[in-house]
Amino acid sequence: MQTVTLNNGVNMPIVGFGVYQVPDAEECENAVYEALMTGYRLIDTAAGYLNEEAVGRAIKRSGIPREELFITTKLWVQDAGYESAKLAFAKSLKKLQLDYLDLYLIHQPFGDYYGAWRAMEELYREGKIKAIGVSNFLPDRLMDLIVHNEVVPAVNQIETHPFYQQTEVTAFLKEQGVQHQSWAPFAEGRGNMFGNEVLTSIAEKHNKSVAQIVLRWLVQREVVVIPKSVRRERIAENFDIFDFELSADDMTQISTLDTRESLFLSYRDPEVAKMMGNWRVDL
Ligand SMILES: NC(=O)c1ccc[n+]([C@@H]2O[C@H](COP(=O)([O-])OP(=O)(O)OC[C@H]3O[C@@H](n4cnc5c(N)ncnc54)[C@H](OP(=O)(O)O)[C@@H]3O)[C@@H](O)[C@H]2O)c1
Repeated sequence: MQTVTLNNGVNMPIVGFGVYQVPDAEECENAVYEALMTGYRLIDTAAGYLNEEAVGRAIKRSGIPREELFITTKLWVQDAGYESAKLAFAKSLKKLQLDYLDLYLIHQPFGDYYGAWRAMEELYREGKIKAIGVSNFLPDRLMDLIVHNEVVPAVNQIETHPFYQQTEVTAFLKEQGVQHQSWAPFAEGRGNMFGNEVLTSIAEKHNKSVAQIVLRWLVQREVVVIPKSVRRERIAENFDIFDFELSADDMTQISTLDTRESLFLSYRDPEVAKMMGNWRVDL
């Protein structure tokens, strides 16, 4: 498995498996088990996905040695704050049946995430988390966090796909030593991504699927990907992207698809801050 090296020397697989919107426990457990059997080693969950227990069961069932895995979970907004982040971390760890995490992310840039970051810095220094990072942080918020704290986030997980490429952000993150991780590499199928003409023609040329082209394009940009699927054949397909290479011309063609806008939500919208701040996750 190709890896990237984070700013603290930790290696992270460049392809992982995401489990957002897989609320059914059995389906989630089976999908994660299938992914682990296929060869995925990075699993991306979150307290807010309400499926950490199912992920934990799949990990246990797989029998894969802990040190071979890279497990990520995320802190929800209601638990931002020094004390509450420590409690939330302990709950997540218990649900996952683990005694340490590879990566713990602040899920959203809302609430008392400075308090949460200090708690995460402590847990990191105690060795309970191998790397700490953030998600959905715009560059200005990320810079503020970097300036006012000791540990520089290892990762920023943000919406990134052919219709919202975040090219300048990738460059900014590189400058800061923060690894860019994509969420929704297929934009969850929005914008008819799987039927897009440019992507389809590149896929035909390489005898690959549109999903594989999209993932390969991100990996060639050194962006970590965590595609989600609950279907066995797609889980395998999304992992099979290391036997071909996109040409410079392919990459240029894909760059023309950028709309420079989110297909989901804006982190500059006050209603988003309100909605996320009011959304309680029953832990
Ligand atoms: N930090 C955040 O705020 C945040 C937000 C969103 C997501 N994420 C993370 O990023 C991961 C990926 O994003 P996502 O789940 O939102 O969306 P995504 O991976 O872009 O898309 C998933 C959708 O694509 C379908 N799909 C998967 N592989 C396919 C293939 N080879 N061909 C055709 N369709 C395919 C899936 O359907 P089937 O399951 O039916 O195959 C599902 O409907 C999440 O699971 C989560 O871990 C993080």
